[in-house]
Amino acid sequence: MATSETAASIRESPHMTSRSVNPFVSRHGVELFRFYQNDRKRAGRFASAMAGIGKMERQFEDLRGSYAWDKIAGSKVIDVGGGNGHMSIALARTFPNLELVVEDSLARLSQASQQDLSDLNGRVAFLQHIFFEPQPITEENAYLLRCVNHNWSDEDCIQIFKAMVPVLEKSAPETPFLINDIILPNMGEASFYHECRLRQLDIMMMVVLGGKQRRKQVLRGCSKKPIHAFGSRKYMAPVI
Ligand SMILES: C[S@@+](CC[C@H](N)C(=O)[O-])C[C@H]1O[C@@H](n2cnc3c(N)ncnc32)[C@H](O)[C@@H]1O
Repeated sequence: MATSETAASIRESPHMTSRSVNPFVSRHGVELFRFYQNDRKRAGRFASAMAGIGKMERQFEDLRGSYAWDKIAGSKVIDVGGGNGHMSIALARTFPNLELVVEDSLARLSQASQQDLSDLNGRVAFLQHIFFEPQPITEENAYLLRCVNHNWSDEDCIQIFKAMVPVLEKSAPETPFLINDIILPNMGEASFYHECRLRQLDIMMMVVLGGKQRRKQVLRGCSKKPIHAFGSRKYMAPVI
């Protein structure tokens, strides 16, 4: 439905989209994630869709292979913007010594998906947190931002990274700060199928959130300003 507002929205703001200026807001008068905050059923459906796409595209296998998770056994991993926790839960099931905290603004996501976590002995916990605000968990940890950046404009991405700075400044230099996001390939680099899929996703991000897909160097640029002091921290491979 929001797509039908695209022309009007671009006419209104030809050079810039953001969380508050995009076709979805033109159509519904409210930002997507606020919309979900008021609609538990659709929020649950969104979380299930994210988990379903993840399974279809074997995204967990990519995440598992992108980092030496067993090296940080015994650590707590903070999954910032972790949705209903599907990735954290899979990590916990694969690495029995990991503890994870799933942070998301939509605390209801975890309840909506009604998952049975009894086998995990409390190793996955959920915390409501808005990632534009300073990261609240400050003990020695690893931090994971997976597929959150593509939802936002450059300014908002910078804000999300800035909110991590206080905790990273206090943490040990080797604290892993892991960014796992969908990266746009250069033209002609990927298969025709992937190229089409990612360009579609790019347009969808603009329509529903004023966000966009980024090339690796652009995403790096967004994080560089706020966290330039942490340049040695690891960038993970893109999920697609
Ligand atoms: C594209 S989903 C990614 C979810 C998960 N990380 C994954 O890999 O499937 C983006 C997530 O960001 C969350 N989110 C949106 N705005 C947020 C905010 N201001 N603070 C924290 N989380 C937010 C959404 O609820 C959603 O779960």
